[in-house]
Amino acid sequence: MVITLPALQEKLKTWKGCPLHTSANPVLGEGNPHARIMFIGEAPGEQEDRLGRPFVGPAGKFLDELLARIGFKRSDVYISNVVKYRPPANRDPTDEEKAQCEPWLKMEIALVKPAVIVPLGRHALGHFFAKLSITAAHGKPQKLTDMVTVFPIYHPAAALHNGNLRQSLLDDFKALGEFLKSQETQAPTP
Ligand code: URA
Repeated sequence: MVITLPALQEKLKTWKGCPLHTSANPVLGEGNPHARIMFIGEAPGEQEDRLGRPFVGPAGKFLDELLARIGFKRSDVYISNVVKYRPPANRDPTDEEKAQCEPWLKMEIALVKPAVIVPLGRHALGHFFAKLSITAAHGKPQKLTDMVTVFPIYHPAAALHNGNLRQSLLDDFKALGEFLKSQETQAPTP
């Protein structure tokens, strides 16, 4: 049986594999189910927990702005998180929580099949490359497989707390837009 994203969403509602489910609401990813590009954050925050949707709070507003700068709407891309529940008081997710929630992210990636994955911040980057630091790797495309490139970028919330990172995010999104365009022109002609 082939599982779909809406079916995954339903299954997550009754899943009890991560203790965070006792204090928070499940938040799966959302967006274009066939998106070429997928953004992955850390974990839902307060607004995301309340509305059951990823990146709808202040960091999400900034992400929307960054997407618009490279010509995308939210509905063009797929947006998700490593951890599917808000950690209490927005603390960092633990390694255990990340490992418990990992199968959901893997299923989302397998269903959407993005060509470019953008980990937003160190937690999402760690899912793909445990040894890379976001400080060193941001803005630099990394080949994951023949079909998939990982393009790490700082988490948009980091720029809301640290003004110096804002320019870095703007620069990295510009580089991401250029990278996506260069991939289009490299596509084989029939
Ligand atoms: N920060 C995240 O990492 N994910 C969200 O969904 C919102 C804020």
